[in-house]
Amino acid sequence: MTAADIPTEALRTRVAEQLRRARDRSVALTDAVDDDDLVRQHSKLMSPLVWDLAHIGSQEELWLVRDVGGRVPLRPDIDDLYDAFQHPRADRPALPLLSPAEARTYVREVRDKAFDVLEHSPLDGRRLEAGGFAFGMIVQHEQQHDETMLATHQLRSGAPVLNAPPPPPGRPLPAAEVLVPEGPFTMGTSIDAWALDNERPAHDVHVDAFFIDTAPVTNAQYLAFVEAGGYDDPRFWSEEGWAYRAKADLNAPRFWVRDGSGWLRNRFGHIEPIPPDEPVVHVCFHEAQAYARWAGKRLPTEPEWEKAARFDPATGRSRRFPWGDEDPGPEHANVGQRHLSPAPVGAYPDGASPLGVHQLVGDVWEWLDSDFHGYPGFEAFPYREYSEVFFGGDYKMLRGGSFGTDPVAGRATFRNWDHPIRRQIFAGFRCARDASREQSA
Ligand SMILES: [Fe+2]
Repeated sequence: MTAADIPTEALRTRVAEQLRRARDRSVALTDAVDDDDLVRQHSKLMSPLVWDLAHIGSQEELWLVRDVGGRVPLRPDIDDLYDAFQHPRADRPALPLLSPAEARTYVREVRDKAFDVLEHSPLDGRRLEAGGFAFGMIVQHEQQHDETMLATHQLRSGAPVLNAPPPPPGRPLPAAEVLVPEGPFTMGTSIDAWALDNERPAHDVHVDAFFIDTAPVTNAQYLAFVEAGGYDDPRFWSEEGWAYRAKADLNAPRFWVRDGSGWLRNRFGHIEPIPPDEPVVHVCFHEAQAYARWAGKRLPTEPEWEKAARFDPATGRSRRFPWGDEDPGPEHANVGQRHLSPAPVGAYPDGASPLGVHQLVGDVWEWLDSDFHGYPGFEAFPYREYSEVFFGGDYKMLRGGSFGTDPVAGRATFRNWDHPIRRQIFAGFRCARDASREQSA
């Protein structure tokens, strides 16, 4: 059920639940460490956690309190400090930021007002309010920053502070790859009330027949590439990827740690053996592409990924998620930080797509060989800085979400993008290959 189909009072309840869930997670991620840790920059790639927290409040104030609610600003004096476009992440620690105590008070005050706005909003009428869009946008924004804060936790040094039960065990898959038949499918959405501008509108895309791996590439498979000297052979790398490999001295996924002749990994401060059957994580686009070439394959494109995830050949329609239209349950996918690692391959048979592709949603974001552009008929909404200013930039697409992605931002139309050199995000990949004419007939 999409938000557009829900009666207004039920929608109000659902928005309130989503706001609370997001806030519980933000609080847990920031209460897990002391004030000193909150204001520190753990990596030049990331903001101090206290910046993320107050920025979450600032966006909520701008869109829910001031715009939807028409209320007087709480803290117009700090708008600039928490505008992501004004200050690159590396510069943020030097700003006169709110202290942890001030940031906590600020986000609480904003939230109280946002709940009051929610009670009075018709959740209908102008586009920003229809179907609770502005609330959905702010919930997704908070959850996306929570995933960013989770990545900051992965980068911080010191004793582990986060805990979660291990993911369910893996199971053998019936096949290593499946054929996706030639033909058109519906990409994107025009009906999901909380879908963001870059997912819109729904449009038909023709995709040639191709094979796609039924599961993401595992640590064991990736280790074979490492041990075969894949990092030392320029034949497998693009020119740009090879140059970056040399400059950054890449020789294994980020957070893999040398242990004699083998490897361990650092996972949120735990140094542990690398589980062979889990999808590899913390590789950049260039590493994913080099692995695929070494394996005699390639990365999927964005339309290929979405067709494998959503297309139902029995009905010809595209689903919201691989398993259907309903939001993920614990049996479908490893999302929402329920676990603190990807799950082994085969752990979610109930989450497979109609074509038999597993673990497309959750576990790891999947690098794709596509650049970021708007769909035909794209319209920036509600502001150009959400997506449009990034179109055509130095980005590669990522789809499907990770174990750290909340389901509210995990639908199969959701689009993410990042620089092809980024490794601190929870990203892995799967491979694809062309199908010859007779195979696809
Ligand atoms: Fe943001």
